[in-house]
Amino acid sequence: MTFRYIGSKARLVEELAKHIGSPNQTGGMFVDAFCGTGAVAETAMKLGWPVWLNDHMVSAGIISAARLISKNEANFKCFGGYSEALKILNGLEPLHGFIWREYSPASALTAGVERRYFTEENAGRIDAIRSQISLWKKDGQLNRQEEQLLIADLLSATNRVANIAGTYGCFLSKWQSQAFNNLELLQRELNPQPTTVRITCEDVSNLQVNPNDLVYLDPPYTKRQYAAYYHILETIVINDEPEVQGVSGLRPWQMKASDFCYKKRALDALTNLIKKLNSNRILLSYSEEGHVPINQLMDNLSQIGSATPFKLMKVGRYRPNKTASMARSTVSEYLIVIEKDKLSSVREEVI
Ligand SMILES: C[S@@+](CC[C@H](N)C(=O)[O-])C[C@H]1O[C@@H](n2cnc3c(N)ncnc32)[C@H](O)[C@@H]1O
Repeated sequence: MTFRYIGSKARLVEELAKHIGSPNQTGGMFVDAFCGTGAVAETAMKLGWPVWLNDHMVSAGIISAARLISKNEANFKCFGGYSEALKILNGLEPLHGFIWREYSPASALTAGVERRYFTEENAGRIDAIRSQISLWKKDGQLNRQEEQLLIADLLSATNRVANIAGTYGCFLSKWQSQAFNNLELLQRELNPQPTTVRITCEDVSNLQVNPNDLVYLDPPYTKRQYAAYYHILETIVINDEPEVQGVSGLRPWQMKASDFCYKKRALDALTNLIKKLNSNRILLSYSEEGHVPINQLMDNLSQIGSATPFKLMKVGRYRPNKTASMARSTVSEYLIVIEKDKLSSVREEVI
């Protein structure tokens, strides 16, 4: 299922697959340390790797985990199947809950500012569906994977009707036509075989990996903070009622402000992370648009091991809106392969 997400590597997975390769024979995991939508983790799973998903956003973990779930892990026995569970959720009456109060025009009365993220009807549906999933889980009618799948389906449905220009950093003042569609959960294709999956929601600096793990790093490369830009998805997953701030109604996100989003801190943060990770092979995504200068990065990496950059295909630039993307329509993406157990060297000829 496609998901519009800043920095998603969905369009690069075929090229990345060539570098990921087959699982090693020593039982290492593929660690998607900044998993986002899980597009790359899913590719590694298809190549046969056991997968470790990590992201400091809970919503990213859920979206990614849902891509790896197999039919047998989510057969929805208590409901007579996946489609039956979705039918019940899609038929619920809207509820006047937190999303309705804070993120639909109802917020004009309840919060003193009219937020147009969703119509009142759709916001009420999100509340009703999220609350029902939570009740089912409490009653023991859903296992962990079934719960993850339904919440991820709700996030996808939410994205399809949100009145936004790609992220939840703000809502649009004029209603877009998609906002008037009924929010509806859609059934997705599940994987035929189960995979070994570990999910953590940690700051990347806390990850303790093994030497035989293959670690993929796709850190934020601009100043856009994911915790602020995807705050509503995070609230839907956590299912709490935070005190939200400002016209956009942001949940408190500063504790998840990422060092990689600050131009002045990103290079050191990245260098220290790669130094600290106890893995012999690390794959690092790098974008031409990123705020870390490539030469300085390569210099630092050469102190750690051998670092080889590969130019991947050019991709269409992320477009939050039309005017923001006038300058250039495509950007070059790179993958830097770092091998700590090889002699220090930097080969730059491919850039
Ligand atoms: C460029 S996106 C990853 C995109 C992903 N590869 C995909 O294909 O969808 C960067 C991700 O890093 C996460 N992130 C940012 N700072 C982090 C940190 N310090 N620790 C863990 N995750 C972090 C963000 O929440 C975001 O999901």
